[in-house]
Amino acid sequence: MSLEEKNLPFDEYVYNDKWRSRTIDVKTYWEYHKRSIENLEEFWASIARELEWFRPWDRVLDASNPPFYKWFVGGELNLSYLAVDRHVKTWRKNKLALIWEGEPVDQAGYPTDRRKLTYYDLWREVNRAACMLHCNFGIKKGDRVTLYMPMIPELPIAMYAAWRIGAITNVVFSGFSADALADRINDSQSRLVITADGFWRRGKVVRLKEVVDKALEKAPSVENVIVYRRLGLNDVPMTEGRDWFWDRAMAGVPHNAYVEPERLESTHPSYILYTSGTTGKPKGIVHDTGGWAVHIYATMKWVFDLKDDDIYWCTADIGWVTGHSYIVLGPMLMGATEVMYEGAPDFPQPDRWWAIIERYGVTVLYTSPTAIRTFMRFGEEWPRKHDLSTLRIIHSVGEPINPEAWRWAYRNLGYQNVAFGSTWWMTETGGIVISHAPGLYLVPMKPGTNGPPLPGFEVDVVDENGNPVPPGVKGYLVIKKPYPGMLHTIWGDPERYVKTFWSRFPGVFYAGDYAIKDRDGYIWVLGRADEVIKVAGHRLGTYELESALISHPTVAEAAVIGIPDPIKGEVPMAFVVLKQGVAGTDELRKELRQHIRNTVGPIAEPGQIYFVTKLPKTRSGKIMRRLLRAVATGAPLGDVTTLEDETSVEEAKKAYEELKKEVS
Ligand code: WTA
Repeated sequence: MSLEEKNLPFDEYVYNDKWRSRTIDVKTYWEYHKRSIENLEEFWASIARELEWFRPWDRVLDASNPPFYKWFVGGELNLSYLAVDRHVKTWRKNKLALIWEGEPVDQAGYPTDRRKLTYYDLWREVNRAACMLHCNFGIKKGDRVTLYMPMIPELPIAMYAAWRIGAITNVVFSGFSADALADRINDSQSRLVITADGFWRRGKVVRLKEVVDKALEKAPSVENVIVYRRLGLNDVPMTEGRDWFWDRAMAGVPHNAYVEPERLESTHPSYILYTSGTTGKPKGIVHDTGGWAVHIYATMKWVFDLKDDDIYWCTADIGWVTGHSYIVLGPMLMGATEVMYEGAPDFPQPDRWWAIIERYGVTVLYTSPTAIRTFMRFGEEWPRKHDLSTLRIIHSVGEPINPEAWRWAYRNLGYQNVAFGSTWWMTETGGIVISHAPGLYLVPMKPGTNGPPLPGFEVDVVDENGNPVPPGVKGYLVIKKPYPGMLHTIWGDPERYVKTFWSRFPGVFYAGDYAIKDRDGYIWVLGRADEVIKVAGHRLGTYELESALISHPTVAEAAVIGIPDPIKGEVPMAFVVLKQGVAGTDELRKELRQHIRNTVGPIAEPGQIYFVTKLPKTRSGKIMRRLLRAVATGAPLGDVTTLEDETSVEEAKKAYEELKKEVS
């Protein structure tokens, strides 16, 4: 069938033929869901039994000290064992685990750097790396290891090596700045940093090690740095006695090294991942071992329906939670073959992703709305160049997907014959919570929705007082019962854990998102209800950007807001009050932009910087970002009775109008 013929008339409520045998109606689904909630512990235990435990659990859920829930108490397991050793004992031993493609291409556009690792290769590398960490650097159970690495196989290898010996990983996105890295190292008190000399991005070399050096000036807990030579740069600054090249450090490790996987308690922390919130420094979200594994295993089956002949590709970066759960742990728990790509989606041309899908016959794709919108702009001629008919499931994550983007991808990538959902979850939930689940059932898809909550998750939409709102009414998204992948605390700050997530509506988990539930019980997450900004799906706190601006010598005060953007979902805008006598010039604007890039990272660069002499505040001194958002989007101001000084809004408006004129 030609691609054109596959563009059949489109129906808002979609069934598709690859799945017809499995589709069920919404009512049947809700009956199934109800049973899972009523027998919550047995439901999750039945899934947990499919994994291999060194010791079975005594209790499925210990809810004696809420909200400090514990899952599979008494159980012992190891993620590295589950993801690698288990497959090596079966026919999967020489099955491909990882197909990695670097960014560079030759004249013909063909990738020049490729690596394919079988499960046996992976097992060997993980063991050797675990031996290196333990024998050469003395890393042991409970130690924190920070990984600041590009998308190369050594990142999952190092994570599994760490988990094998019970170390706790702290992955920091390689696009974050030295300051952001230093904060995260310090808060986690990491002993070791693993990094690379650099990587390729859009045809350019990004040097990473220098950033680590800068961060370490402020991070004294670090004893050693391991540097993987991705690029083989010969001018990498190395500090004697502290920094070691990965290959040198590995040289003494026997080829057939074997490190016994630690028997870790189910509740042992596997990783910390820092997220930005409304106030204060980034929070170190802590996840356990057993609960997380069970949640990820279940969702891999339900949401991605992964089978042995699938080729799976998640386009996220491991520096964010999606990569943790659905690049590193998920596919490998399943013994799947997955694709991993180092570089930019549009390098050397806007069809790079489609070339990759065609090259490896990708069947299951996990991606983001921002990526889809970016490709929409490039045009459908790019996916048309390639045969994407292998795809049978597509999911997106990270931000709401607008129906137009959904339709575009459904047609141009899925040929109207895929299951396609928008999976809702967050760093705090550890895994997917609301989603279509073609591996379990498929209820009718509706473009733009997240679908019903997965079985085992009791989700609701509530009003200010915590009462459920009727269908169609906007409210706050909450999760009413504990579930295995949930966060367990904030690193070093259990009080903040209780306060941030469990105090807004006592006894239930507050997600911080606005949502609507429709008549079928499908959830439509609309966006954040707090000051978190989602730039291209990347989560940034207004606080982080504001404190970065204030750290500049010319800035007295700053307020940052996110405003809608047709491609990236949201972009940050900054309103800045300069110190007395400082002139707000274009030069300074440029400098402040660069300052944000240096202190937070390039993803945080504001779309625009407005200079004002005061910020709109309440009488109690709280910045009213809502008003700034109204100014920057041209929306009505709404209630301004709490505003202390109305001229502040007028001024913000003026600053906005002036720049708008200049730009147009
Ligand atoms: C948003 C990413 C709408 C939401 C896995 C949430 C979504 C935040 C979706 C968490 C979706 C994530 N539809 N919004 N399918 N998925 N979000 O921690 O606002 O980086 O609170 O985790 O992303 O972002 P985080």
